[in-house]
Amino acid sequence: MSAYFFANAARGTERLLLEELRDLGFQNLELAGSGVAFTGDWSEGWRACLWSRIAQRVLLEITRFPGVSTPEALYTGVRALDWRPFLTVSHSFSVTALPPREGLLRNPNFTGLKVKDAIVDACRDQLGDRPMVNRDQPDLRVVAHISPNGDASIYADLVGEPLCRRGYRPEGGEAPLRESLAAALLRFSGWDRRSPLLDPCCGSGTIAIEAALWAANIAPGLFRQQFACERWPLHDASRIAELRELRGKTRAERRGDPPPITAGDLDPAMLEVARANARRAGVRLTFRQGDVRELRNWTPPLTVVTNPPYGVRLAADTAFFRGFGAAMARLHGARVGVIAGTPEIAEGIPGRPLARHPVRNGALEAEMLAYLMP
Ligand SMILES: C[S@@+](CC[C@H](N)C(=O)[O-])C[C@H]1O[C@@H](n2cnc3c(N)ncnc32)[C@H](O)[C@@H]1O
Repeated sequence: MSAYFFANAARGTERLLLEELRDLGFQNLELAGSGVAFTGDWSEGWRACLWSRIAQRVLLEITRFPGVSTPEALYTGVRALDWRPFLTVSHSFSVTALPPREGLLRNPNFTGLKVKDAIVDACRDQLGDRPMVNRDQPDLRVVAHISPNGDASIYADLVGEPLCRRGYRPEGGEAPLRESLAAALLRFSGWDRRSPLLDPCCGSGTIAIEAALWAANIAPGLFRQQFACERWPLHDASRIAELRELRGKTRAERRGDPPPITAGDLDPAMLEVARANARRAGVRLTFRQGDVRELRNWTPPLTVVTNPPYGVRLAADTAFFRGFGAAMARLHGARVGVIAGTPEIAEGIPGRPLARHPVRNGALEAEMLAYLMP
C-alpha cells in the first residue's frame, strides 16, 4: 500500500531537495511549503532517511481529515486514530503544531496541546494508560499541519534527531554550517562530483566532508545507528529484516576513486578540527593552511565551494571581502559556489552570478551564489 511522505528542508533549499529526491528516483514529487511530498511504500521512507543529504526530517502521513476549523474538531479527529502502531505506555511522544495564521487554531502552543490531549485520551482507551511526553528525545514526534482551508494532516517523524546532524562533527568551529546546508550548496554550485574541489575557508570541514561523501556515493543516513521509527511497535520482525537488507544494499553503493578534495583555512587549529571530523566521517581530504586571498595557480577544472567569514559570528571587513573577490576572479574557468552571510561578499566578486538564491543559515539570512569565473 502506498504511503504519503513529506521531507522538509532549510528555508531556501526546498527546490534543491526536490532535485535531489528526483535524482534518487523518488516518485510523485511535489514541492509544498517547507519541503517536498512524495509517495511510495514504507521502504521509500527509509530510503529517503538513508539517502537524502538535504532533508532535515522525513515525515509519514498517518492520516488527513478535512473540516478542522475549531479545537474540538481537531481533538475529535486525532482522538479517533489508532495510536497502537506507534505508541505503548512505555513510549514517549511530543507534538509540533503547524497551524494556519488565522482562525481559532492559529496559536501553535494551544493547538499542540489539543493534539497532545487527544493522543493521551485515545491512548488511555486503547492502551489502558497514557504514554509520557518528552520534548527532547521522544520515540514518536507527531507533527500536526492544519492548512488555511481546514485540512489537517497528522504526521509521524521517521527520523528522530534531525538528519542534518550526521554525527561526524562533535567538534564544530565558531560558525559551523549545517551539514544539510553544505550539501545543498554543493548541489547549487553545479559541481559535477568528478572534478577537484576546494573549500579554502573550511572551518570544521563540513563542505569538504559532504563533498567527499557525495562523490563516493556514501549515504549520510548510514552514520545513524537507529531512526526513531525503529522504536515504534509496528516495527516488527519483517520490517527489521527489510531495513537491515536495505542498509546492506545502501552500503554496497559506495563508489571508489573520488576526486581530490582540499580543505583549507587560515587557522591551523580549525584545520585540526576538520582533520578529526574527516577521520570520523571516514573520508580522505587534503589539508592546506593559508589565506584565501592568496589563492592562485590552481589548474582547471576546479570547483570552489565555501562559506567565508562574514563579520557576524566571525570577524571580516571590507578589505577581506575585496581580497576574497579578487582571489576568486584569478581562478579563471573555475566554478565557485558561496554561501554569503553579507551582500559585501557578492559585491567583492567581479561579474554577475549565474544563480543566486536566499537561504536561511540557522538564525541568519544568507544567500547562495554560483559563478563560472571568466
Ligand atoms: C564561516 S567559517 C566556515 C565554517 C565552515 N563552513 C564549517 O562548517 O565549520 C569561516 C572560516 O574561515 C576561516 N578564515 C577566516 N579568514 C580567513 C582567510 N583569510 N583565509 C582562509 N580562511 C579564513 C576561519 O578560520 C573560519 O574557520
